[in-house]
Amino acid sequence: TWTTGNVIEEQVAAIREQVGDKRAICGLSGGVDSAVAAALVQKAIGSQLTCVYVDHGLMRKGETEQVEKDFVAATGVSLKVVDAEQRFLDALAGVSDPEEKRKIIGREFIRVFEQAQAEIVAEAAGEHGEQPVQFLVQGTLYPDVVESGGGTGTANIKSHHNVGGLPEDLEFELIEPLRKLFKDEVRMVGQELGLPEEIVQRQPFPGPGLGIRIVGEVTKERLDLLREADAIAREELTAAGLDRDIWQCPVVLLADVRSVGVQGDGRTYGHPIVLRPVSSEDAMTADWTRMPYDVLAKISTRITNEVADVNRVVLDVTSKPPGTIEWE
Ligand code: XMP
Repeated sequence: TWTTGNVIEEQVAAIREQVGDKRAICGLSGGVDSAVAAALVQKAIGSQLTCVYVDHGLMRKGETEQVEKDFVAATGVSLKVVDAEQRFLDALAGVSDPEEKRKIIGREFIRVFEQAQAEIVAEAAGEHGEQPVQFLVQGTLYPDVVESGGGTGTANIKSHHNVGGLPEDLEFELIEPLRKLFKDEVRMVGQELGLPEEIVQRQPFPGPGLGIRIVGEVTKERLDLLREADAIAREELTAAGLDRDIWQCPVVLLADVRSVGVQGDGRTYGHPIVLRPVSSEDAMTADWTRMPYDVLAKISTRITNEVADVNRVVLDVTSKPPGTIEWE
């Protein structure tokens, strides 16, 4: 019979057998899949695993800390964090086109990740001599396997990596401990492994992060503003017990739009924030969530009161199709 306990035991044994005394690397994205895959491999081979987290500065409030502190505390994993915020901001300066932004973020991500990977390989070669890094951990799920034709895992990885695919010349063998699991099963395994609730229950979040939730150029100031608005929306949705009814709720900053408002003593000319709560089974189609008005009112009041330069909150009432879930 299927139990999370069995799955964990079976995978731990298989990973130990596969890796032997060699070393492995795992990229963490902050999402559920990579976190659970890393935790499983950590349980199997302990200090033979090194995780890499690229902080691109496009994460939501508190998410980097969740990985750096809570995930490490829960798993004891050895983590290399690369602070690449400035590099991403520089690369994104002056760019407003959505596809262009995605390309830049994907490209920079791969460069930073590859460099970190090379450093870890070099360090390991120095410290451990004949035990080089030979394995790369991927959080591939069963639906990804089916979609991409079911091939088994050696080096050639693309398409399903969060931010546009890893390079094709990787000399790593893959470890994919989640290949037989669906998303809800992955969450159960993560829970059983003692991972923080915020990570295990996380809703989908795009690889390019808040970079594609700012309509217009991405700047540090705009990211900070959007992080505040997004944190308020998430806090109120959680407080209202709506996390399980809502598939995800992008919060979008219309950075190039201004409208007139009146706040405090006078007239303002600020930016609108869009709330995009959607209900969905698989993100292929979606409907806008009929959220309680009082929750919407609370979010609107708090965002306009607490976030400087925002004087209007609007609700997106478009299904998918015709609208996509994200605005970019
Ligand atoms: P759309 O906007 O196409 O989004 O309706 C469907 C789902 O995919 C997520 N999404 C992304 N995920 N990289 C990702 O890893 C991306 O570039 C990306 N774009 C959209 C989106 O959040 C939704 O869950």
